[in-house]
Amino acid sequence: CLAWGSASAQGAYPNHPISLVVPFAAGGPTDVVARSLGASMAKTLGQSIIIENRTGAGGTLASQHVARAAPDGYTFLIHHNGMATAPALYRKLSFNPLTDFAYVGQVADVPMTLLGRKDLPADGMAGFIKYAKENGNKVNLANAGLGAVSQLCGMLLQESLGVQFTTVPYAGTAPAMTALLGGQVDVLCDQTTQTIPQIKGERVKLYGVTTLDRIKALPDAPTLQEGGLKGFEVKVWHGVYAPKGTPPEAIAKFNAALRAALKDPAFSQKMAELGAEIVPESKQTPEGLQTWLQSEVDKWGGVIRNVGVYAD
Ligand code: MLT
Repeated sequence: CLAWGSASAQGAYPNHPISLVVPFAAGGPTDVVARSLGASMAKTLGQSIIIENRTGAGGTLASQHVARAAPDGYTFLIHHNGMATAPALYRKLSFNPLTDFAYVGQVADVPMTLLGRKDLPADGMAGFIKYAKENGNKVNLANAGLGAVSQLCGMLLQESLGVQFTTVPYAGTAPAMTALLGGQVDVLCDQTTQTIPQIKGERVKLYGVTTLDRIKALPDAPTLQEGGLKGFEVKVWHGVYAPKGTPPEAIAKFNAALRAALKDPAFSQKMAELGAEIVPESKQTPEGLQTWLQSEVDKWGGVIRNVGVYAD
């Protein structure tokens, strides 16, 4: 425990390992970003960063845990768009993303990919659309629960195709990917930070990317927009949070380590290979994250209320 401001403790932070909470399963896309970010930040902080996977309820259990954790500079959360969609998706949410956290900064933006199991009898986007319309709820769509970006992407996909698949939720897209590889589910929309190795290994069928433009890491992959879903766009962004009341000195040190990691070639090259793009410096700040979160709460709140999905 630290005595902030006392002469003996000054400059002592951090003096023991820091916990970085990941809301989804180990080995999945958020975990991949967190582990590689944590390894780089630890070099600057001189303390290790322990990744804690706290899964459940589409990421909201992890957020709740961090909102209630001691604000001592030793617990942080990395989360994606799910932080902004939760208030619209969950009627009873035990935390408020806009008032219960201190903000550290944003990390990287990640495209998603629409995948089918290797032996799905549908080729190319035109084949996929036809198959989806003909088979409707016989198609099993994996996701990581309400609040996961795989759910968000799947929701927009069904909405734009005018179909209703059967949804199969997992504790993260790592187990969802295992199910896709094993043929237990048919379709998964997931981030390139997990899917690129599977796509390159030809273990899945790739239908397209969810960005409006093609991406460097998969130059031959068409966008879903090219495939006929006009305006279809989902981009995943990541923010780092702390419990509200965390000492500003700890936030400043953690932020400086975050910014150093975003310049560290060991981190940025790995992100580039996995299709992720480091955010510009203006977004790497507490203010940059806070402003962005507010705009995303507004944007996705509207989209989700239009579709009408939510949980109690
Ligand atoms: C994960 O890390 O498993 C994913 O980010 C879950 C998701 O949001 O689809």
